[in-house]
Amino acid sequence: MTTKVIKILSEKDYDLLYEPAKCLANGGLVVFPTETVYGLGANALMPDSVKKIFNAKGRPSDNPLIVHVSNKNQVSEIVQTIPESAEKVMDKLWPGPITLVMPRADCVPDSVTAGLDTVAVRFPSHPIAQKLIELAGVPVAAPSANTSGKPSPTKAAHVLEDLNGKVDYIIDGGSCNVGLESTVLDTTSTPAQILRPGGASKEQLDAILGEVIYDPGLTAKGVAPKSPGMKYKHYAPNAQMTIVEGKNPEYEVTRLLDAAHADGKKVGILACGFNEYKADFIFDCGRFAEEYAANLFDALRELDLRGADVIIAEFPFGETGIEPAIRNRIYKAAGGNVIKC
Ligand code: TXA
Ligand code: MG
Repeated sequence: MTTKVIKILSEKDYDLLYEPAKCLANGGLVVFPTETVYGLGANALMPDSVKKIFNAKGRPSDNPLIVHVSNKNQVSEIVQTIPESAEKVMDKLWPGPITLVMPRADCVPDSVTAGLDTVAVRFPSHPIAQKLIELAGVPVAAPSANTSGKPSPTKAAHVLEDLNGKVDYIIDGGSCNVGLESTVLDTTSTPAQILRPGGASKEQLDAILGEVIYDPGLTAKGVAPKSPGMKYKHYAPNAQMTIVEGKNPEYEVTRLLDAAHADGKKVGILACGFNEYKADFIFDCGRFAEEYAANLFDALRELDLRGADVIIAEFPFGETGIEPAIRNRIYKAAGGNVIKC
């Protein structure tokens, strides 16, 4: 199939969304920007369209999809009940980077939920996502718009690398602000559980709900994560990656860099602010966690494109705000290859 790319510069271009919205409602695949990452959308109520998502991404069919809505009222069409905790979070943090797992309604196909009795729902804050879903007039199932296993796309160019010729439309709305996926919160258990750390922080959720806990399966060895997607290899660049974690990484980074060079490898450094490393490529993700989060997936893809054999990533962050989400993604990207210093 030929993929049409539509660039939206401002609200003045929203007329250009009618055609892809119609395609989406009628069963096509449309990639759209959200505040977290780009999503690969299909009509959530059409099982055959939803299956096309899994083919395009090469995604295992036991990994359920998030259903996106363009207003809070639409939620009651796809869930059986709205738990009290979900109601509270919707009130305070929607639209935004938080996905709520709730009991599913019968109309939601098994292909969306992977046969679970719950459905994950999100109301994105990105105006293009909102407009597209509103015009389509249906709930939109959308995983991140990358080939399974690759870093999620935060720019239309990333989507083209993975899905050109596999989707009907790509809507280019520029770079995604948050840069990491939404927080997934299971509101069917008490206390509510964070199944995936993301754009909304535990502190924000604690303030709204009293206390939320992390799914023990996120970190404990031998315990399966409750969110099926968290068990897969993910976010992996082609290059072999090592994280150097801590506030003073220079000595360790230089040691790894020299060793890789002695082996004849090309080295890319994912840096956190200014530095004087003698690497082949340096991608400065920025000193602040929000900045680093927004740049991370772009950096992994860019260092791959440049032909780095080895990526060494500085990671000086802690446990608050978006930091646990960065840690989760970067640890997965490096396959757990971490040196603490
Ligand atoms: O920010 C985001 O959430 C992006 C944008 C496009 O909205 N979407 C996204 O979707 O990251 P995806 O498919 O890449 O990740 C969805 C995660 C997976 O780990 C999946 O297993 C989990 O949510 N999930 C979906 N439905 C679930 C359910 N009913 N119960 C538990 N986990 C669920
Ligand atoms: Mg994904």
